[in-house]
Amino acid sequence: MLKSTYDKKYVWHPYTQMKEWTNARAPVITSGRGFYLIDENDEKYFDGISNMWCNVWGHNRNEIISAMIKQLRDLPHSSQFGLAGSSSINLAQQLIKMAKGMDKVFYTDNGSTAIEAAMKMAVQFWRNKGRGEKRSFISLKNGYHGDTIGCMSIGYVDGFFSPYKSILMKNIFRIPSPTIRNWKFKGGKNDLTADECIGIAEKVIKKNASVTAAFVMESGAQLAGGVKIYPEGFQKQISDLCKKHEILFILDEIATGFGRLGNMTEYSAQGSSPDIVCYAKALTAGYFPLAVTLTTNNIFSAFLGKYNDRKQFYHGHTFTGHSMGCAAATANLILYERYDLISKIRKNMRHLEKLLEDLIEIDIVTDVRQKGLLAAIELRKNNKDIMTVCKKPIGQFIAEESLKQGMYLRSLENIMLVIPPLAIGRNDLKRIIDVYRSVIRKIKKQIS
Ligand SMILES: Cc1ncc(COP(=O)(O)O)c(C=O)c1O
Repeated sequence: MLKSTYDKKYVWHPYTQMKEWTNARAPVITSGRGFYLIDENDEKYFDGISNMWCNVWGHNRNEIISAMIKQLRDLPHSSQFGLAGSSSINLAQQLIKMAKGMDKVFYTDNGSTAIEAAMKMAVQFWRNKGRGEKRSFISLKNGYHGDTIGCMSIGYVDGFFSPYKSILMKNIFRIPSPTIRNWKFKGGKNDLTADECIGIAEKVIKKNASVTAAFVMESGAQLAGGVKIYPEGFQKQISDLCKKHEILFILDEIATGFGRLGNMTEYSAQGSSPDIVCYAKALTAGYFPLAVTLTTNNIFSAFLGKYNDRKQFYHGHTFTGHSMGCAAATANLILYERYDLISKIRKNMRHLEKLLEDLIEIDIVTDVRQKGLLAAIELRKNNKDIMTVCKKPIGQFIAEESLKQGMYLRSLENIMLVIPPLAIGRNDLKRIIDVYRSVIRKIKKQIS
C-alpha cells in the first residue's frame, strides 16, 4: 500500500477506534469499476462485502447511473411535504407489485429511520383505533435494527450498545432466537431449539399483548447479531402468534430482502404475513440512501380522518423519498427483472454452498451457516471463540489481511461474513472463499 496524499484526520469513522485508525494504512477509495473499489494509487480491491451489504451490480452500472443523471437534470429532489414527486410515485407502484399483501409505501432515507417509522406507525395505529397506549415492543435477542434510539432499544446487541443502555426504551420484551448450528459446533449450554423459543414467545406475547404495539424481528435471519438463520417454520409461527394475540408484526428485511436469502421478499418465502415490512440497503443497489416502510390498507386506514382528528402520521424527514434514490431504485428493479437476478442468485447460492464445504477441513472452522448469498464462517479453538490474533482484535486482523490480498471484507469478530454483491459471478465468489481460506490458515498458524 503506497503512501496517501489525503489527510485522513478530519473524518470520524463509524464503529472505529480513531486513535488506531489515524495511523492505519487504510486505502482511500476514489473510484469504482464493476465489483472493484479503486484507491488513489490505482490499487484495486474486490468489494467482497457489497459495501456494507447493499451493492448489487457493482459500482458503475450504466443503467442506474443514467437514470440518476436524468433525474438530476430534471430535478434533484422534490419534497414529500405538500407535494408529490413523480419518481417516488413510480417506485411505490413497483414496490407494491413486488410485495404481496402490502398496499402503501412510506419513504425514509436509511434502514434505521425505516424501522423508527415502523415503530411509531405501530404505536399510533393502536391509539388511532381507540385501543389506548400500547407502548411496548417484543423482539428477538441479538436482533439488530439500526443505531438510532428506538432501533437500539428493540435490537439491543450488548457488544455495541452497552454505553447507551441508560437512555434506551425500557418497555421491550426479548425472546431468545433459536440457534441452528451446523457441522462441528458442539452447541453451547444456552442454545435453545425453535420449539423452545416459540414456547417462550407464546408466553411473553400472551402475557403482554394488551400493552404491546408490535413484535419486531429481522426476516429470515439475524445478521449483525451473528448470522443466525431461522429454522423452517419459526418466522411463520411468530407471525401466527401475533395475529392470534392481536399485536402487529413488523419485519425488517433491510439486510435480508431483495434476494440476499434467495427471495425478493423473504416474508413470502417464510409463509409469514407482516403488517409492516422495511427495506433499504439493496433497494437502490447501493447507489443512494433510501428506505421504505411498507404497510397494509388495514394499518393505513386507521390513520384516516379529518385534519383536526390528529390521526395523521407525524413523521417525515427533509430527504424522505429523495428523487435521486427513487430513480436509482426504479432502475435497479428493472434490472432485477431484465436479468432475472433472483434465479441467478439461487444458482450461485448452490455454488457457494459447495465452495464453503471445503473450509470444514480446517480445524478452527467450527461452523459454517448459509442461506442464499449470506454465509458465516465461525472460528473457534478449544471450544472458545478466537478473539485476538497477533495482539489485534480478530476482525481487524481479517480486514487487514484480506485488503493485502486485494479484497474488502469485514467480519463480526470471529464470524467471517460472506455477503457479496448480489449479481456476483462464480469466479468472484470463489475468489472470496480463496481469500478467506488463506486468511484462516494464517490465523491458525499465528495462534498455534
Ligand atoms: C437488519 C438491519 N436492520 C436495520 C439496519 C440499519 O440500517 P442503516 O444502517 O441503513 O440505518 C441494518 C444495518 O446494517 C440491518 O442490518
